Amino acid sequence: MNKLKIYSTLLTLLLTTPIWAAEEGADGTMLNWAIENIVMIMGSAVVASALYLLWNATKIIWRAQSTQQYETQGLSHEAAVAKAKRESFLGYIYQQLDGGVSLEKESDVLLNHNYDGIQELDNNLPPWWVGMFYATIVFAPLYIGIYHFSDIGKLQIEEYEQEVKEAEIAIAAYNAAQKAEKAASLSAETVTALTDADRLAAGQANFKSYCAACHGMLGEGIENLGQNLTDKYWIHGGSINDIFRTISEGVPGKPMVAWKEAISAEEIQELASYIMTLKGTDPPNARPPEGDLYEEGATNETPQEGETEVGTE
Ligand code: HEC
Repeated sequence: MNKLKIYSTLLTLLLTTPIWAAEEGADGTMLNWAIENIVMIMGSAVVASALYLLWNATKIIWRAQSTQQYETQGLSHEAAVAKAKRESFLGYIYQQLDGGVSLEKESDVLLNHNYDGIQELDNNLPPWWVGMFYATIVFAPLYIGIYHFSDIGKLQIEEYEQEVKEAEIAIAAYNAAQKAEKAASLSAETVTALTDADRLAAGQANFKSYCAACHGMLGEGIENLGQNLTDKYWIHGGSINDIFRTISEGVPGKPMVAWKEAISAEEIQELASYIMTLKGTDPPNARPPEGDLYEEGATNETPQEGETEVGTE
């Protein structure tokens, strides 16, 4: 019985050792790889010893029970211990798992039929087999209930649809991230003129709601308010980059505010691209040109503050 105490104490100690905690923090370096493997081997050794201890503990308990049984049958303690020791634990386990009638007693279960010398034994079914049979009986209604009549278990098609849905969410998130990244990198330096009709239309719509009050519905400009945006003359430069910068940063000290506070970089790109398409439209009541001539392709130099572009009038 002392042995049993020692074994069970050791078993508990080993099982509660937080050895698996060492697995965390693996990041693929050689050292971590080695540690991981050592931990794996040590872990396996712990599991193997635990199983071995469990096996021996069961054996000891079983021996003790056997001994007790022999003692109640009238054997002396020593004789009972000796007899119990001679029994094979493996044999006992096998017998428990098999459950069949032993060879000597087979005649008891021999059925009365005799077909040309072929006889039939009405032997017990092995307990593990019977157990599995009952397990299937329990399993079947549980399975049907869980998978066909409840929301707990998902059938293949539902699983597939769920995965597709998750993938769609992941794709949307990816696209949003891409778009955000693109928007973040959109600046006066990197901006390009859009040609996409939908986005130019969006630019036009925003122009009418935000800008037309000062620059006119057609960009023709309004006296004392905003410049003509349809001619070749610009105060702050006429390239897509210049226009983007003017809209984004505004003109300090003038009614033209920094629109980046109110609208996104993409909307500013749409607006700037739309304004580029107004060039030369020559709307009625246009405000006279102001600033310097800007010719597409002639020079891409941006006139900065205090600096003027050389006109080619
Ligand atoms: C409150 C009136 C007002 C509103 C609204 C306004 N602007 Fe302006 N904008 C001006 C004025 C005034 C100037 C000229 C600034 C200067 O004299 O340097 C100007 C200049 C500009 C220029 C530069 C013109 C040049 O010759 O270089 C662009 C481009 C422009 N605005 C685009 C826009 C857009 C796009 C919007 C709408 C998002 C807008 N503006 C809204 C008043 C306005």
